[in-house]
Amino acid sequence: MNLAESHSNSAPALAVTGSTGHLGGRVARALADLGREQTLVVRDSSRAPQLAGARVRQASYRDGAASRAALEGTQTLFMVSGSESVDRVDEHRSFIDAAAAAGITHIVYTSFFGAHPEAVFTLARDHFATEQHIRESGMDFTFLRNNFYMDFFALLAGEDGVIRGPAGSGRVSAVSRADLADAALAVLRDPGAHRGAAYDLTGREALSLDDVARIITQKTGRTVSFHDETLPEAYESRASYGAPSWQVDAWVSTYTAMAAGEQARITDDVLLLTGHQPETLGEFLDRA
Ligand SMILES: NC(=O)c1ccc[n+]([C@@H]2O[C@H](COP(=O)([O-])OP(=O)(O)OC[C@H]3O[C@@H](n4cnc5c(N)ncnc54)[C@H](OP(=O)(O)O)[C@@H]3O)[C@@H](O)[C@H]2O)c1
Repeated sequence: MNLAESHSNSAPALAVTGSTGHLGGRVARALADLGREQTLVVRDSSRAPQLAGARVRQASYRDGAASRAALEGTQTLFMVSGSESVDRVDEHRSFIDAAAAAGITHIVYTSFFGAHPEAVFTLARDHFATEQHIRESGMDFTFLRNNFYMDFFALLAGEDGVIRGPAGSGRVSAVSRADLADAALAVLRDPGAHRGAAYDLTGREALSLDDVARIITQKTGRTVSFHDETLPEAYESRASYGAPSWQVDAWVSTYTAMAAGEQARITDDVLLLTGHQPETLGEFLDRA
């Protein structure tokens, strides 16, 4: 291929996945607002956000050839973890391999707080396996280990106003997607300064689900309470969804991970990266 045929010189330095979703969408919009050029790698180009300075390429994580073509000529990749699936780690591995083959030099990956092969939250094990594959790829990396989204806890109560799960009095330092997007943006503005770093991104308070219920009740006027399920109750109350067992395990272990104390630690990493404190659940609900 001669130079005239190559597209590599015209590719933006940065590629972003997940821009049709909540977190990647926020990051992509913020990058566009800063005047940064980017490639949006999406599964369906008709749903890509229309952003100044952005070009769109279509690829899913499992499609190695399309992913490689989408990333050719790019240096830095912001990789949002994919939707839960039975073979998500294989999808991630395929995409990481494609990124390395395309010449990506640095991956910024949205991992999970407490990513570990024996984490109680089953999906934290997927994130550990993905981190390992990135480390082994030889590319530079930055891991953004996001704790559970505050946005999720705000919506947790069922129609009857009851939050149900086997969390006991366990606590979670949940963090808003808005703060996580700000943290990601700080890294993407100067990726070289964050090479090899892993950030544990949390909110600034560790709440039990009794606290969550109380704060939602105070802030919204809707009466919300928490029912601490037993493990058998937790599986039984979710059986009607007909979900596969790996998925029900993931749902239930969201709560058991809290009960085990794995999601409670509070860090300064959001403040360190963004220069502002992460918001509390009360502040989040005031804004919503
Ligand atoms: N920390 C937490 O509490 C928490 C909670 C939920 C999820 N998560 C993880 O964090 C990620 C981002 O959160 P979010 O709220 O932004 O999720 P979201 O709104 O569902 O967005 C996920 C984005 O990833 C894209 N995507 C998913 N699977 C993909 C695949 N196999 N190949 C290529 N693109 C794929 C989606 O594309 P489409 O629009 O085509 O689907 C979408 O743009 C989630 O995907 C999940 O891995 C974390």
